[in-house]
Parts: sequence; structure tokens; C-alpha cells
Amino acid sequence: MGRDWIRLVHHSHEAELVGLVDLSVNAATGALEREGVTGVPVSASLGELIGATSPDAILNATIPQAHHAVTTEALFAGLPVLCELAAIGEIGILSTQFFKNPALSGLRLELNHVLLVEMAIHGFDCARYLLDREPVAVRCVEFQPSWSAFAPNAAPAASAMFEFEGGVHFAYTGSLVSAGLETTWYGEWRARVVRSVPRCGTARVRRWSPPRYRPRLTCHHPRRSRARLPSSWRHCEPGSLRPAKCARTR
Ligand SMILES: NC(=O)c1ccc[n+]([C@@H]2O[C@H](COP(=O)([O-])OP(=O)(O)OC[C@H]3O[C@@H](n4cnc5c(N)ncnc54)[C@H](O)[C@@H]3O)[C@@H](O)[C@H]2O)c1
Repeated sequence: MGRDWIRLVHHSHEAELVGLVDLSVNAATGALEREGVTGVPVSASLGELIGATSPDAILNATIPQAHHAVTTEALFAGLPVLCELAAIGEIGILSTQFFKNPALSGLRLELNHVLLVEMAIHGFDCARYLLDREPVAVRCVEFQPSWSAFAPNAAPAASAMFEFEGGVHFAYTGSLVSAGLETTWYGEWRARVVRSVPRCGTARVRRWSPPRYRPRLTCHHPRRSRARLPSSWRHCEPGSLRPAKCARTR
């Protein structure tokens, strides 16, 4: 992720990369070289580089185990931190299916609650953004499928049911050891809209960059039924099953 951030900031007109910290200075130098970035100081010490470059903010793309220490050090230095791992109308239930089977190794296989901590958190944040309200209750079950190569406490699979303000529900099911039919890294999203629409679509999050981010919705509601969709969602004409026809915004 560090290289993604280097590329993003390097090509941004609004931000400037003034320094790069990594426990491995070689890794930092190599990342800068691979991204074609020159003239950026590198250090293994965050405090040292803050003193030398006076940054306006810190992007923390370290491993999860280092998030707390790095973020705390930056906050105590008086700097804002962006750390990796961040109203739709009349929706009755929002649901996400997340199924992947990535080739992971090393510490990742031993991280406790790996699905919830590493991946599901993105889905939970996304649900809060989409519903524009806060959760008031949650029930969650983590589990370890028998074929999983993860450590016993890793829990690479989980189901969670959230109740949000106003009685809206969000159901999340995910697995990092899916045996097939994988979703994208963003998962597959559905919104069940009350009243006239019995079933309404699959929303796939294409990129994680609010506020420009808009889920794309594919409608499968019957001809003549009128979807009560949030104004920000693009959707098909009633009866159309082809996302290509999604040209109208209500
Ligand atoms: N948003 C996303 O879609 C997404 C995708 C992948 C990873 N991530 C997150 O990004 C973070 C980094 O993941 P990654 O796959 O790039 O990891 P990585 O292991 O490839 O890189 C992490 C780097 O952090 C360095 N590091 C570790 N501890 C440090 C410390 N205390 N101070 C400074 N540097 C330290 C390591 O030397 C390493 O170079 C994780 O939190 C991960 O969950 C987010």
C-alpha cells in the first residue's frame, strides 16, 4: 500500500511527498526508485524525519501491528494522521458478501481476527457511509473453515448483523478462504428497498475514494415497479437487466 500512496501523492497537485519512513530504509529507497520519485529523504525514524521535514500530515501505511505506535507518535507531534484501515433513503436491509482466497503468508496467517481487522472493517465503514447513520447493535460470529491454513485464532470467516439507527439492518458475510465464486475485493453489495421493490440489485464499489465514490447499481425489479432509490444512485430503467442501460440518475 505504501507504493500506492507514494504514487498517489507524487501525482497529486494538492499534496507533496516530503519524506518516507520505513523500518527498512532499503525498502523505502526501493519503493521510491520503482515509482520514479527522486529527492525525497528516507529514514527509519519517524521522529527524526518529522524534525527534518516539518510535514503537514502523516500517511500511515505500515503493517497493522505498527499502526498504534506510529499513529500515536505522529499525533503527539501534533500532526493529523490518515491510517490505513478507514443516506440512502428507504433501505430496509443492506448486505455485503465478501469472498476471496488470497495467497497469504507469514504474519498475515497468524493475525487474530484477520477478516474483521484487515478486511471487513472496510465494508463496515462503507455501510456507515452508504446508510449515513450509525450502528446501534451488532451480533457477530467468527469461524474457521476446516480447510483454512490460518492459525487457530485467525478467524478468516465471519458473519455479522448490524442494526443501524432507524431500524435499518446491514448483513455482512465474508471469508478469506473461499473455495470458489470469489467476489471482488470490494465485495458484492445489495440494497433491499422497502415498499414497491421486492428486489433491487447488486452494487459493486469500484473504488474506495469518497466523496467521489458512487456505488454502481444493477436493477432487477419488474417492469412497471418503481424503485425508490436514493438520488445519488445510478440505476437501470425499470425492467432492464442490462447495466449498460444505466444512464439515468433519479
Ligand atoms: N486499503 C486497502 O485496500 C489495503 C490493501 C492492502 C493493505 N492495506 C493495509 O495497508 C497496510 C500495509 O499493508 P502492506 O501490504 O503494504 O504491508 P507491507 O508489509 O507490504 O508494507 C508495510 C511496510 O511497513 C514497514 N513497517 C513496519 N513497521 C513499521 C514501523 N513501526 N515504522 C515504519 N515502518 C514500518 C515495513 O517495513 C514494510 O515495508 C496494512 O495496514 C494493510 O492492512 C490496505
